[in-house]
Amino acid sequence: MLFGRVKSLDAILATAERQSLHRTLGGFQLMLFGIGCIIGTGIFVLTAAGAQKAGPGLMLAFAIAGAICIVAALCYAEIAAMIPVAGSAYTYTYSVMGEILAWTVGWALILEYAVSASAVSVGWAGYFSGTILEQFLGITLPQWLSAGPLFLGGEPGGLVNLPAMVIALLVTWLLMIGTSESAKVNAILVAIKVAALTIFVALTLPQVELDRFNPFLPAGLFGQWGTGTGAVGAAATIFFAYVGFDAVSTAAEETKDPQKNVPIGLIGSLLFCTVFYILVAAGAIGTIGGQPIMGPGGIPFPAGSEELARQCALPQFASALVCSDEALAHVLREIGFSGVGNLLGIAAFVALPSVILVLLFAQTRIFFVMSRDGLLPQSLSKVHPKWKTPYVVTAITGVVVAVAAAVFPVGRLADIANAGTLYAFAMVAIAVMLLRRNDPDRKRPFRVPGLWFVAPAACAGCVFLFVNLPTEAMLVLPIWGAIGLVIYFIYGRSRSHLGRGIVEVVGPGDHEESLLPIDTDTKRD
Ligand code: ALA
Repeated sequence: MLFGRVKSLDAILATAERQSLHRTLGGFQLMLFGIGCIIGTGIFVLTAAGAQKAGPGLMLAFAIAGAICIVAALCYAEIAAMIPVAGSAYTYTYSVMGEILAWTVGWALILEYAVSASAVSVGWAGYFSGTILEQFLGITLPQWLSAGPLFLGGEPGGLVNLPAMVIALLVTWLLMIGTSESAKVNAILVAIKVAALTIFVALTLPQVELDRFNPFLPAGLFGQWGTGTGAVGAAATIFFAYVGFDAVSTAAEETKDPQKNVPIGLIGSLLFCTVFYILVAAGAIGTIGGQPIMGPGGIPFPAGSEELARQCALPQFASALVCSDEALAHVLREIGFSGVGNLLGIAAFVALPSVILVLLFAQTRIFFVMSRDGLLPQSLSKVHPKWKTPYVVTAITGVVVAVAAAVFPVGRLADIANAGTLYAFAMVAIAVMLLRRNDPDRKRPFRVPGLWFVAPAACAGCVFLFVNLPTEAMLVLPIWGAIGLVIYFIYGRSRSHLGRGIVEVVGPGDHEESLLPIDTDTKRD
């Protein structure tokens, strides 16, 4: 009976029913929400790591990762419209494949949300140090305060990335005291990010030299297995640039006409970002070049590695794209638009913390739902009497996120986050297929067209990207999963509410104010 504990879909839906949030969101608002979660460190910072893996093939990498995300998003659209409750992939899996697999998904989502929050914090720190401190204030942080230690992939002389740690703690504190972003603030931040990328594309594309794209695939299409290089290795890394779109699925319950608008929100935001990302990569590489720094055997030095950090410290690579911590601002400065480069740096400085906020929020929500199910200690979901937030779990998550941000480089964190995310996406695609087979008559506000092609393609795409991650990132998932299973068998299995026959229906007043990290001004009936 290991896989026998399946949560009844009716009980889950009764929860949603009782929450009865107003349906106020349209397709455009969902798209804005999606773009707000998606555009972040991936494009602003990881462009450098992606170029180090693939060179100009980075453009192809963005297309591959974008296409895989789009088929995964279609699966999310069907299941989210059908099971519009908190907990995302964890909840879907619980109702379709049972508790133990749901636990592994919830556990993997920690990699998606918490580790991503660390990665975005490190990305933000690059822009803070490079643009705000150096360009505007003329302050250069000592090396030991601006990067993690070399043996973890930091920089020579590095010890702790102080700005990354501070921003993670600051955002945690904002969440603890109950800050949620208004839809208006989200729209403004999206406008800032999109304007910054549009200006980048408009200034760089006219200066593109076609020679810069040659060789197009310096590390090959596939690269050497385990190194995470080549165009598909880069796709596995810059997949991170799309992470967060699944947050749109959590808004299904608050969406008008979800049949139409949930897919518009998911697919629209992804398509929009895919096109932009390819143009940005073309502009960056076509102007200042983006060939990798090659190591022994013609294999690029791993992004975020000690060897690459040493190479980047050499004068001949001082202005290489692949060595920059603030890739896009750096490109603009190199082609003579220093002022605009600084403005782009400010845009990243202003907008990236909201991505951290959304990710951390999503993480605390997943923990919250898991502890509500009895799989994690109830004390974690304790709500602060004044702030009305699950402050205990928020504080613990924030401290762990801050510590990871303080010591690890962004590329490594992104790869680890991707490993967990790919697992969750694949499980969602499987859940959609199982539900179609086991419960064909249940109402589906949105049906994936051609599901029996789309869902297997999403699964295969996730596996494909996973096996093209660097070996160490691949290994994290089974090790993390094994730790999770030990905890499940020691703690969760015997305390599980479902296992003990408790099926609660959560209703208004149980502090599930909104399923969204962004305050959409929705009200309960
Ligand atoms: N997709 C988000 C980013 O790139 C997580 O920052």
